[in-house]
Formats: sequence, C-alpha cells, structure tokens
Amino acid sequence: MIPQNMHTMFAKPNHDEASRQDFVNDFRVHLAAKVFPGAFPAYFNRVLPSFIKAQGREPKDRHEVRKVMTKDSYYQLWSAMQRNSQEMIWDSVIDSVERQLPDLLEKAKDLNGKGSLTLNPNVIVPKYHDAADIHLQPGAYHTDSITDDLAAGAVYDRGTYIYSMGGLGPANDGLGRILREFFRKQFPDKKVERALDMGCTIGGSVTYWSTKETGTEFHAIDVGAPCLRYGHARAKAVGGNVNFSQQNAEKTNFPDASFDIVTSHILLHETSVQAIQSIFNECYRLLKPGGVMMHLDLPQVFGQNPLEGFLWEWEIYNNNEHFYGQLRELDLAEVAKKAGFDPAKFKIHQVASSWEDGQTPYSNENFTFPVYVAVK
Ligand SMILES: C[S@@+](CC[C@H](N)C(=O)[O-])C[C@H]1O[C@@H](n2cnc3c(N)ncnc32)[C@H](O)[C@@H]1O
Repeated sequence: MIPQNMHTMFAKPNHDEASRQDFVNDFRVHLAAKVFPGAFPAYFNRVLPSFIKAQGREPKDRHEVRKVMTKDSYYQLWSAMQRNSQEMIWDSVIDSVERQLPDLLEKAKDLNGKGSLTLNPNVIVPKYHDAADIHLQPGAYHTDSITDDLAAGAVYDRGTYIYSMGGLGPANDGLGRILREFFRKQFPDKKVERALDMGCTIGGSVTYWSTKETGTEFHAIDVGAPCLRYGHARAKAVGGNVNFSQQNAEKTNFPDASFDIVTSHILLHETSVQAIQSIFNECYRLLKPGGVMMHLDLPQVFGQNPLEGFLWEWEIYNNNEHFYGQLRELDLAEVAKKAGFDPAKFKIHQVASSWEDGQTPYSNENFTFPVYVAVK
C-alpha cells in the first residue's frame, strides 16, 4: 500500500495498530485480486448454464442474476469475507483513534491556518443518512460522543484509505483530483471566484481543490459535525483554505447566485431520490448565470450487462449503501430539467478514474465515474 500522508491531524497507528490495519488492507487486496475474480467462472461455468437449463434463456437483468448468484457457494464465500473485511476496517481503526483522541482534540485547537468552521446544532440529519451506518462505520459521519468530537472524521480518514486500499491516493483526495482535472479540461477559461462543495465529509476532495485554485473562495458543507471539525483542522494541517459549514445540501443558507461552481464527490448515491431533486434545485438556485454544477458519483446500470450490474450492487445489500440502488436507474437529465437547467446544457460525462497531476493508484484505468454536469 502507498503510505498515507501523515499530516498533523492524522491518527498515527502505533506498531500493533499498524500491523492490524496493514493486515486488513492486505486481506482486502487479496480478496479483490485473488478471490473476487473467481465469481466470473462460478457464474459462467455453473450458475449461468443451470439458469439456462431451467429457464431456456439467459437472465434478462441483474435482479435475475442476484436470485441465482446469491445461492452460489463461491459467491457466498467471497461475499462473507468481503463483509467481514469491511467490519475489520473499523475495528482496526477505531481503537487507534480512541487512544489518540485527547491529543487530536488539543491539536485541532492549537492549529493555525486558513479557512473557517461554522457548526449549526439545529441541522437535522436526514433519515436517509442516519437510518443505517453507511459503509458499516459505527455512528457513521455524524455521531458526536463527546464535546467537540472529531473522532468520526479521524476514523473516516484512515478507514476510507483502507476501504479503498489506498486507491484515492496518499491524501484521500483522488476524487477531487479527477473532478478538478476534468473541470479544467472542459472549462479551461472559467473564472471561479466562489465554489461550493456539497457533502464534503472531511474535505478530502475540496481541500485539494483549494490548494490548486488558490484565487477561489471555497465553501464546503456537510450534515456531520464531527467530520466537519476534523475536516477543518485537517485542511489547516495540509495548507488548505476552505470555509466549512454544517448545512443540508437540500436547502442551504447561501444567497441566490452565490457560486461559480457547485460540486459534489460521491454524495448523490447516499441520498434519496427526493433529496437528489432538492439538491439539484438548490444547485440551480445557488449558481450564478453561466455557473457550472458537477456531481461525480458511482456508476449507474446503463451499459452494464446483467452480471456486472449485479456485482456493482454488492455494496447496496451488504455495506449499508441502501440509497445507491435508487440512483442506479434515475434519469438525472430529467432531474436537472425539473430543477430549471436547460436540457441542452446538461451532459453526463464518463470520466476516467485516474489523474495526471500526481500518482494514480488505480490499476484499472478503464474504470470511469459518471459526472453530471449542467451549466446555468
Ligand atoms: C461518501 S461521503 C462524500 C465524500 C467526500 N465528498 C470526499 O470527497 O471525500 C458522503 C457525505 O455526504 C454527506 N451528506 C449526505 N447527505 C447530505 C446532505 N443532505 N447534505 C449535506 N451533506 C450530506 C454525508 O454526511 C457524508 O459526509
């Protein structure tokens, strides 16, 4: 694994904690590289022929594949180990963060740097967000256990690194790099005075943006207070310049036409269909004329064969990503139109999951993220 950046706010594992965390990471790499690929011969050599024998045809969609694949012993073996590895991430990281929490709280207070933090305890965490612990992270993004808590952010920083097997880069900023590079290719001359990032969590992506677009005033919102506290401290630690605030992206307190760009990095799939409409409506309201909305998210079903479609949905059924299922088939062009965007100025781009400006840890450069782009 490429080592993660050890910034001041990073909960540095001691010898035994690092050994546990490395094991979980390597276990996940092993599952991805050596065990998961076996699902394909299991399907083509066993599951598919028996489906054809019984039905006289191939499965017509991912739902039919699910019915038969989830009964296959090889798939069950991989799936059970994958689920266990996900639980092990948090077990291996939480102990380490808990041990260092008093120290992290002190560091957060003492750090000098740019940007700001505005919390609002009256923000109601939406049901789609707190009904289940997304990715199985205990307490998810929003749970405060002590005054000024930031543990959820510190756990997310290390846990997401292991979750992605380092795939987001040493600073967990890969999604920000991908989207910013895309933006600069598509809109090379666009002047950005003010930018908003929605669903920023610990600001991995937006903090990166702020170190590159240094003439821009960056704002970042999330509903989770502990992640915002950690994100603010972390941004100061790495030289970022972001104004974090606790707000629901469905309805913010920014005035109309406040921003030149509004972004999100894998926010939409963790919200509901209704919320996505509200978020697009809010983007439209917040953008200046000519402003650009860009949402990078996980793939939809379109273009996926039934087996791929099924495999992509493992997280929905096994990793508390319940709302991703709704995004999979949602007509985002229609959502953008309803929000007020001109359909001629809405486009879905498939953007490579690699970046030029730095290391690209992903080995599969063919993998693409959809980016939903609309110009007001
Ligand atoms: C997968 S994380 C996003 C990762 C982050 N954008 C990054 O680049 O590292 C999704 C985030 O969206 C936030 N979120 C979910 N619904 C929200 C809403 N309605 N308003 C603001 N934030 C929301 C969650 O709290 C969580 O932090």
